[in-house]
Amino acid sequence: CGIVGYVGHRQAAEVILDGLKRLEYRGYDSAGLVIAPQEQRGALSVVKKSGKLKVLSEALKQGPLVGTLGLGHTRWATHGKPNDVNAHPHLSEDGRLAVIHNGIIENYLSLKAKLVESGHVFSSETDTEVIVHLIEEHYARLEGDLVAAVRSALKEVSGAYALVVSHVDHELIVAARATSPMVLGLGEGENFVASDVPALLPYTREVIFLHDGDMALIAKDSLTVTDFDGRVLARPVTTIEWDAEAAEKAGFEHFMLKEIYEQPTVLQHTLGGRFAGNGTDVQLELGLDPLAVDRVVISACGTAFYSGLVGEYLIERLARLPVEVEIASEFRYREPVLDERTLCVVVSQSGETIDTLEALREAKRQGARTLAVLNAKGSSISREADDVLYIHAGPEIGVASTKAYTAMVAAFELLAIFLGRARGVLSGEAAAELIRALRALPGLVEETLGARPEIAAVAEAFKDKRDYLFLGRGANYPTALEGALKLKEISYIHAEAYATGEMKHGPIALIDADMPVVAVATASALYDKTISNLQEVRARDGVVIALASRGDEAIRAHADHVIYVPRTLELVSPIVNVVALQLLAYETAARLGRDVDQPRNLAKSVTVE
Ligand code: G6P
Repeated sequence: CGIVGYVGHRQAAEVILDGLKRLEYRGYDSAGLVIAPQEQRGALSVVKKSGKLKVLSEALKQGPLVGTLGLGHTRWATHGKPNDVNAHPHLSEDGRLAVIHNGIIENYLSLKAKLVESGHVFSSETDTEVIVHLIEEHYARLEGDLVAAVRSALKEVSGAYALVVSHVDHELIVAARATSPMVLGLGEGENFVASDVPALLPYTREVIFLHDGDMALIAKDSLTVTDFDGRVLARPVTTIEWDAEAAEKAGFEHFMLKEIYEQPTVLQHTLGGRFAGNGTDVQLELGLDPLAVDRVVISACGTAFYSGLVGEYLIERLARLPVEVEIASEFRYREPVLDERTLCVVVSQSGETIDTLEALREAKRQGARTLAVLNAKGSSISREADDVLYIHAGPEIGVASTKAYTAMVAAFELLAIFLGRARGVLSGEAAAELIRALRALPGLVEETLGARPEIAAVAEAFKDKRDYLFLGRGANYPTALEGALKLKEISYIHAEAYATGEMKHGPIALIDADMPVVAVATASALYDKTISNLQEVRARDGVVIALASRGDEAIRAHADHVIYVPRTLELVSPIVNVVALQLLAYETAARLGRDVDQPRNLAKSVTVE
């Protein structure tokens, strides 16, 4: 979910709506806004609507809210359906107190029972409403001390959340953070709070990232950060270097398409400056001692998890270290066996995914050395990992990840070479060959983008199919998984991925002319075996769309459609190949008229379990 709060001299509703638009990637099933009326009397004004932000802005056009202090929210439902009533903000019965909250209050049922018993009437199904009633109780008891009331209420609450509170009698926003991200924006005669930086960029670049357990008191002319007991904390001010422009579409029809096209540049940023002058080594500024590592465990969610699967191939092959990769939401509850000679690598675009953050914490509890492969700076994970390897992909707005994925895989290429060299198992010659291939990558990805017309033709031919099968093997098995995930996420076509050699053990039963099979068949040691597998598909009337290395004419005999991509080393090819599959998903979804940047039910950054 996304939060924006404003207090200052502008019309708060305008600032907040604008900010929410930039945070819509965090959730978009309902939205709401509360404004304190100019004269600090009466009740707060509130508008909330199920559906996208558009619906809220339309409603506001009918009846604008006037005032210079306000809070807004765009929601991704956890408790309670995404309807008008459950949308945030939630107000007290007298309409004088408002709360917006991201995350989950774990003990809300028992708190609710107590509050109902003492006479509180609930109007929504949300866990958030519990906080409203709790603060109200303490506010009455503490005779109108809003900050103390919030503090006391939070002492009773357990769970992961970020929340903002306002009251009609105070020109103040109270914010609190326990796990879910929140950032303050510093202005002149105005101040801001939001779930993420893009909401603030049109107004300020000076920000303070709140830590877990921080509260902030946000007034027009002052900003104070304290802990939950009221002790004042000094938090550094960070200047954001990227600009709002980078978070705009720059002429592309969708953010996702823009981000696909940014990949050549992004890869330069990820790899740039990280190769040593000798051409055989990489330089990563890590505190980690590669000789103190016996084993690597990689944990992440979604697309980041698939990048970890490529990482497994790379690190095992190049650094000869055993690697396991596990979905973060499983890993954290499994009591994994780790020790101080285990390197736990977590991977995350946002650095805020709660499952991944908790996986990191579990690894630390067990004494493992930790490394985070991240995009967002200042994120929660960046503060807790022993080492951070930034992928430098810039802000990614499209909910379906593209440039962050290729940059994550590129970071694993670097990490694998780094570990392999430091451990003395990767020769200078082999490393130099890989580094040459990596240096050529931006150009190869650029060339792959040139295959868009052929890819669009395939998308057109198969856009009405209900199922797709993706096949890949070796380092490109994760490419097939990621290709299927992209198609599912944005086109809503069912797609599954299998390791090519495994297809004959089950999914072959599904093969017929109605289920196109996308096979990654680019140059590799197992190319011939892949061809045999494709013959198995075609013998059963299956339709094969092959991704092949440029110059491979022979493959035409085994495929109905061929998409050519540039030739590179097998271990580098996942980055080139996946770009073609991203375009296939994009072209399919665009033809079906899907909401490419904000597919239904998803959120870019999931800060709840
Ligand atoms: C969400 C997004 C996915 C993303 C995953 C992990 O579920 O919808 O696209 O891959 O979170 O996100 P992270 O920010 O940790 O990479």
